[in-house]
Amino acid sequence: MPDIESLLKEKRTFKPAPEFSRQANWNKKTTAEYRKLGEKSPERFWAKMAKENVSWFSPWKKVLDWKPPFAKWFVGAKTNVSYNCLDRHLEGDNAWRRNKAAIVWEGEPGDTRVITYAELHKEVCRFANVLKAKGIKKGDRVCLYMPMIPELAIAMLACTRIGAPHSIVFGGFSAEALRDRLNDAEAKLVVTADGGFRKGAAFGLKATVDAAVEAAPHVDAVIVVERTKQPVEIRPGRDFWWHEEMAKASTDCKPAKLDAEHPLFILYTSGTTGKPKGILHTTGGYLTHVTTTFKAIFDIKDEDVYWCTADIGWITGHSYVVYGPLANGATTVMYEGTPTHPGPDRWWSLIEKWGVSIFYTAPTAIRTFIRLGDEHPKAHDLSSLRLLGTVGEPINPEAWIWYHNVIGGKRCPIVDTWWQTETGGIMISSIPGAVETKPGSATLPFPGVHADILDEGGKSVKGEGGGFLVLRHPWPGMLRGIWGDPKRFEETYWGKYENTYFAGDGAHRDKKGYFWIMGRIDDVMNVSGHRIGTMEVESALVSSPDVAEAAVVGRPDEITGTAIVAFVTPRSSVHPDEVLVGRLKQHVSKEIGAIARPAEIRFTNALPKTRSGKIMRRLLRDIASGREVAGDTSTLEDFSVLAKLRESDED
Ligand code: WT7
Repeated sequence: MPDIESLLKEKRTFKPAPEFSRQANWNKKTTAEYRKLGEKSPERFWAKMAKENVSWFSPWKKVLDWKPPFAKWFVGAKTNVSYNCLDRHLEGDNAWRRNKAAIVWEGEPGDTRVITYAELHKEVCRFANVLKAKGIKKGDRVCLYMPMIPELAIAMLACTRIGAPHSIVFGGFSAEALRDRLNDAEAKLVVTADGGFRKGAAFGLKATVDAAVEAAPHVDAVIVVERTKQPVEIRPGRDFWWHEEMAKASTDCKPAKLDAEHPLFILYTSGTTGKPKGILHTTGGYLTHVTTTFKAIFDIKDEDVYWCTADIGWITGHSYVVYGPLANGATTVMYEGTPTHPGPDRWWSLIEKWGVSIFYTAPTAIRTFIRLGDEHPKAHDLSSLRLLGTVGEPINPEAWIWYHNVIGGKRCPIVDTWWQTETGGIMISSIPGAVETKPGSATLPFPGVHADILDEGGKSVKGEGGGFLVLRHPWPGMLRGIWGDPKRFEETYWGKYENTYFAGDGAHRDKKGYFWIMGRIDDVMNVSGHRIGTMEVESALVSSPDVAEAAVVGRPDEITGTAIVAFVTPRSSVHPDEVLVGRLKQHVSKEIGAIARPAEIRFTNALPKTRSGKIMRRLLRDIASGREVAGDTSTLEDFSVLAKLRESDED
C-alpha cells in the first residue's frame, strides 16, 4: 500500500494534451459547467444526464425521492437495460450499428468470436425466452456462475430484458461460497458452463454447481454452456444444455417495461463480518450512472475498441465490461484467460491484434507486468492506445509512471477511477480531456458526486488533510440496500455519520482539492483489487477441526497490494507443522475460493487480546508486516503472547 508520505511527495502533474481535449466528449468547458450544475443541484445534473444518455419508455415524476438512507431515482419512469444496450442501437439513426462489433471475444486457447449488435440482440432475446420457458418470471433471481465467455453477457442482458435480477458469482468461488449466495438470494435458476480455460488447462464449474445446488433448495434448473467439452453429469429434468435450449427458442422477445427502481442485480461483496453482503442495484439510476461515466471518463467514440480486463464476476465487469460500454454502443473486448498465458506478452498481443484504443486494468496487474520486464510490451505495437485507466486500489506513482511511459507511450492520459461495488459506477476520477492528473491521485469527484473527507467527529476536513471518505448526497448508481438485511445496510454505511454514506476508505485531500485514496480503514483487505473480509477468512479457518482460534490481517505486498496473513492457534491435539499449513490453506480455498487463500500462516499459542477480549489487529498487522510493534500495548491480556509472537517472527 502506498503510504501517505510517499504519495504526497509526488509532485509530477500531467495536463490534458490540447489534441485530446479538442476531440474529447467532455472538454474543460463542459466539465466545468457540469461541475457547477452538479454542485448546485445533483438532481438537475443527473436528470440532464438521464435524458441525454438513456432511453426511457415513460418519464419520471420525480428525479429523487430521498428518505435517508433510502433513495429512489427517476421515480415512476420506465425503462429496460437490455433495450438501452441493444435495441436502440439497431433503430433509426443508429441502425448502422447493426453490424458493428458489440463484443470482441478471445478465449485463452486463441479461439475468437466477434458478435455484432444485431447478433447479440438475437441471442439475448433467445435466451430471455429460454429463461421464460424454464419458469423465470419478473423478479425471480437467476445466478450466473460462468467463465469469461460471451454467453455470460448474453445471460445478463437476457435477465435484464425480462426483469429477473441476476446474481453473478465469480467462477473462482468455491461450492460453499456459491451455495451461500444461492440461498441468500433464493435463486431459482443457475447458468453455468462445463468449464473454462485458464493457464493452459480446462477447469471445471459444473461439479461445483452440482455440489452447491445439493443444498440450495430454491434452484430448480441449471443451464450449462458447452465450452471445454469436459465430461459433466447432466441430471435429467434439472440440467439443460444451453445450445439445445437456444435452438428451440424464438429470437422475438419484447423488453419488459420496468420501473426505474426495479431490482437489476445483486452482487455479493465482503464486509467486516463473516457473511458477504448482497449489494442490490436497481435499473434506471444505475444505467444512468454507468452510461454517463463511461461516456465522459472513457471518452468513448464509435471508432474505439475498448478493453476492460476485469472479470464480469466483479462489479467492474458488470459496469464497465458490459453495461456501460454496450449502453454507449461501444465495442467491448472480453478475454477469457490468464494475462500471462501462453507467454508474458498475451495482453499486449491482444491490444495489438484487436487495435485496442482504450484500456482499463488494475494496479496489481500493472505491477506484475513491471516485474516481468519491459521487453514484453515493447515487442508489440501498442500505438492504437489513446487512453488508459486503473481501478481497484491505490496506484503507487512508480506503477503509474511505468503505465504512462511503457504502455501509453507517454501520449495517453490515465484515468484513476475510485469507486466500489456499492457505488455502482465511478465516483472519483479524472476527466481525460479536462483534468490535470497527478500519479497516485484519483483527482476529483465526478460532477453530481458530493464526496468529502470527515474527521472522527464528523467535521469536514478543511484545506489540506486526511480523514474518512464519505458521500454526502445520494447518487443514481448507489446501492439500494443489502439483500434481505436492511439493518446491516443502515449500520454499515449510514451508521457513522448522519445522512452520509461512509465508504470505509481513508483519504487525503491536497491543496488543490485532489483526493488521494489511502485504502480501507476497516477489517477488509484489498487483495489484487478484490475485497476480502478478515472475518470471512477467520470463519473459514475456525471451521477446520484443526483450528481453535484464528486472526487474519493483511500485510503490504509488492504485487497484490495486500497479502493475507493468518495467525492460528491449533487445537491442542494438533501438531503445528508445514503439513498443517498446507492443509489450512487448502481448507480456506475450499471454503471461499483461491482468492482468499492465505499467503502465510503463523501458529501461536494464544492471540493477543484486549481485556474485553478483542483481538488486537493493529498489533498483528505490525507483526505480520515485520514492523516494530508500535503504540500502547497496556491493554494486552497476556504479554507473553506478544513476546511469543515476536520470537516466532525472528525464526
Ligand atoms: C474498494 C472497493 C469498483 C472497483 C473495484 C473494486 C478500493 C477501488 C480505487 C482507486 C484507490 C480504490 C477502495 C474501495 N479502490 N478503486 N482508484 N484508488 N482505491 O471494488 O471490491 O467493491 O472494492 O476498492 O478501497 O473501497 P470493490
